[in-house]
Amino acid sequence: MGEAGILSREEALRFESPQWKHACHVLFYAPCHGRLFGKFPLRYAVLMQMRFDGRLGFPGGFVDPEDVSLEEGLSRELQEELGPGAALLQVTKQDHLSAYTSEKPRRVVAHFYIKQLTLEELQTLEEKATQAKDHGLEVMGLLRVPLYILQDGVGGLPTFLTNSFIGNAREQLIHSLDTLQLVPREQLQKAVNMAQKRP
Ligand code: GTP
Ligand code: MN
Ligand code: MN
Ligand code: MN
Ligand code: MN
Ligand code: MN
Repeated sequence: MGEAGILSREEALRFESPQWKHACHVLFYAPCHGRLFGKFPLRYAVLMQMRFDGRLGFPGGFVDPEDVSLEEGLSRELQEELGPGAALLQVTKQDHLSAYTSEKPRRVVAHFYIKQLTLEELQTLEEKATQAKDHGLEVMGLLRVPLYILQDGVGGLPTFLTNSFIGNAREQLIHSLDTLQLVPREQLQKAVNMAQKRP
């Protein structure tokens, strides 16, 4: 086991269904050059979604009994939530980053995957997302996470982090931005601290 409470895929699979429900979500990201207002580097496009409950989260969902594996379940959820663009992408075991368990309101093992795409692949996902079965239902829209901090010190990532997130999606996002080095650590720390001051 790595960090406290964070499980590997294998460790997490010891929490057996039906006592435990497993869910899989994924962070898609792509290198993205270009600067906002010709000034603030965008660095990467990181995809999240506005959920039906008004919270931000990652695409994915519960693995159902019919799904033969975690990744098959994730693939089905991605097609439901992101539409035909998701069929072009394969998220595999190797993309599994971490899993964590929670008991309230029910027993859930939340698996988290990360996958790097080309900007073209990510744009295709975005373009086709309105064709998804769950568009306008479970998913109110895809969005990109602002990774920069504007001159006022709060605009951009700090303000984004003050949104409501589902489950531990906020921690998953921050941890990924750090481990994948999508945001320099010092800036990430600044954004997290600033977000805490402005709830
Ligand atoms: P239904 O088909 O309506 O059941 O939705 P779903 O299968 O798409 O499930 P959903 O993605 O809403 O959530 C599955 C479980 O994971 C729930 O316990 C959520 O609270 C939790 N969850 C949803 N999104 C995220 C996320 O981005 N990160 C984490 N850690 N948990 C999430
Ligand atoms: Mn404008
Ligand atoms: Mn779903
Ligand atoms: Mn979902
Ligand atoms: Mn589902
Ligand atoms: Mn559903």
